[in-house]
Amino acid sequence: LYYMKRFFRIALFLSAMVLHAQQGGMWIPSLLEGMNAKEMKTLGMKMSVTDIYNVNKSSLKDAAPHFNGGCSSEIISDRGLLLTNHHCGYGQIQEHSTLEHDYLEHGFWAKNLSEELPNKDLKVTFIVRIDDVTAQVLKGTESLNEQEKARRIEQNIAQVIKDASKEAWQEGTIKPFYYGNQYILFITETFKDVRLVGAPPSSIGKFGSDTDNWVWPRHTGDFSLFRVYADKNNRPAEYSKDNVPYRPKHFFPISLKGVKEDDFVMVFGYPGTTQEYLPAVAVEQIQNVINPARIGIRDVALKVQDEYMRKDQGIKIKYAAKFARIANYWKKWIGETKGLKKSDAVALKKQQEEKFAQTLQRTNKKAHYGQLLPQFAALYKEIEPYNLAYNLYSELMFRNVDLLSNAFRLLQLEQVLENKGVQSFESRKANFLKIFEGVFKDNDPQVDKAVFEKVIAFYAANMPKQLLIKSLQHFDAKQLADKLYANSSVTSYEGVARLLSLSPEEFKNQLKQDVAVQLALELSQMNDTQVYPTYERLDTQIQALQRTYMKAILELAKPSDRIFPDANSTLRVTYGKVAGYVPADGVTYSATTTLDGVMEKYVPGDYEFDVPARLRELYAKKDYGRYGTKDGKMPLCFLSTCHTTGGNSGSPAIDARGNLIGLNFDRVWEGTMSDIHYDPKICRNIMVDMRYVLFVIDKYAGAGYLVDEMKLVK
Ligand code: ARG
Ligand code: ASP
Repeated sequence: LYYMKRFFRIALFLSAMVLHAQQGGMWIPSLLEGMNAKEMKTLGMKMSVTDIYNVNKSSLKDAAPHFNGGCSSEIISDRGLLLTNHHCGYGQIQEHSTLEHDYLEHGFWAKNLSEELPNKDLKVTFIVRIDDVTAQVLKGTESLNEQEKARRIEQNIAQVIKDASKEAWQEGTIKPFYYGNQYILFITETFKDVRLVGAPPSSIGKFGSDTDNWVWPRHTGDFSLFRVYADKNNRPAEYSKDNVPYRPKHFFPISLKGVKEDDFVMVFGYPGTTQEYLPAVAVEQIQNVINPARIGIRDVALKVQDEYMRKDQGIKIKYAAKFARIANYWKKWIGETKGLKKSDAVALKKQQEEKFAQTLQRTNKKAHYGQLLPQFAALYKEIEPYNLAYNLYSELMFRNVDLLSNAFRLLQLEQVLENKGVQSFESRKANFLKIFEGVFKDNDPQVDKAVFEKVIAFYAANMPKQLLIKSLQHFDAKQLADKLYANSSVTSYEGVARLLSLSPEEFKNQLKQDVAVQLALELSQMNDTQVYPTYERLDTQIQALQRTYMKAILELAKPSDRIFPDANSTLRVTYGKVAGYVPADGVTYSATTTLDGVMEKYVPGDYEFDVPARLRELYAKKDYGRYGTKDGKMPLCFLSTCHTTGGNSGSPAIDARGNLIGLNFDRVWEGTMSDIHYDPKICRNIMVDMRYVLFVIDKYAGAGYLVDEMKLVK
């Protein structure tokens, strides 16, 4: 009996540990010692945390730069070869594409250094050092009020950066963590000569496009290759033909061993934003008010666009990028809302808050923090109509209807004229014309009008009545659309160009008379006077409360509570294991996919699911070289429990020994609520298997010379 009991106790203890280790979290790489290190070992990690981050010798962090501020990436050779996602390099690939050399359509492979393509405004930033500077930043702020405190913190930050030891070519930035309860300094090096080396065709790099976006099972080879160049001293430099490939302090060896269920995985990148510590009332608001509104308004816009795109190939091309952009977060919010409901996030938060209140009672901290939750409740109630109005306004004005965003741009230009005078006005015109050229290249007035009609109707029906402009109180959407699109100059490039060719006086006059500009003006004035000021005032109060709430959570927490800081575009470590999931009753998803799935999804000629002939050929011959599995399959994507978000795209997925096994690019739809509430049962990140990346480079594209400069581990 004794043995049995002990066995159970140990088993229970172990399963609790493993479960806990799957709870998500995005951790600061310089602070992994202790609880994280223990969890990572338990999950199977064979390195030590000083192999991940170390100031005294090279470590993994030296091979994981921030890619152009928005994505993640990794160095995979001693000559500065850099890997990131296809969708992260998309702009650069597009920029170099012409009708004759359509690299988006056919892919691109530089055969040697001289063929690599330089990119304007592309940079990658490496982290040299990470220091906790909380004490210095908060020095002398204890007794100050909010405003003075903010000012003092700003001064302290400037001073700390100035005093920080760094080389002439390095920079310092300080970021708040835990809503300003901790401050961390990053010393960085930014390289500005980064050249395009290779990209698969979109039919591989974007296979499945919007239909498969946020979806498992997935079969996208979402990767592209760049190279970082440095000056002769291996330091950052502006583009020069004399620059040479960067020699990194570290680069990732690539494992050919492959992955299986339960293997340790670590993802190392730059997650953008999460909101894991919102009170239940805030989550309720996102779930029941904000998400439904922004999903709803995009719903009607996308439906109209889709209808036209299906009928007309020209419109399909024009609207492809716009549609993808609107659809990306539309789809994410739908998944997020479902996931929040399914995982009972609000109820769970409420339970945690009850416990929080009890702990305050028990620890005599009620006087300090007892008012937080009631204050949140009051503020969120108060901000709700303004939050809704602000979100609907942004969607209407800036995201879905070209006519209104164009009218808004013209109003901005008029403001320049008002505030800064004729000279600034003249000097900015060319810039505006360029923007309009881009907008109208991808605009069809008939589609825009149809979108406007549906979107404006949705807007008027869903705005809080007291914040709705007069002219939309009683109106007919079709009549309004007819009137605007027949009479406004803002519906075509010629119309806008004509306005911009007028004298400043005439420009102002005609702008005032334009029906679309009038509507945009009425909308923006309502926002700027009745909505935004209140929204901002309440939001500032909410942010201050959130900081105090975070402080309380940190004070009351045990290490096992695993309180990690919300994402803020700084380098983080998340770890877990390879795992499938159960998306719905009766459905089980496995953790890996293969090239077989590409062929199952193949639709000849389709813009999302076409498959290039060469890939079909390799598949037919099962010609996978050293990259296929023993049983003759070509691995494609895999899942893990790592906790990622937007910005983690392009992150290295690393095995227990620090080798690259995958490239992160997405999450599963049912788990996109991980930005607010991570549920280990259904939150999964999606990676492309490195063996597929190498197969595409080597066997598909015949660019094996690139593989030769990598280090492969068998
Ligand atoms: N959902 C991924 C992320 O949020 C990939 C987006 C790019 N792909 C696309 N089909 N739009 O960035
Ligand atoms: N696709 C996202 C990105 O581009 C990653 C995610 O949201 O999971 O960063």
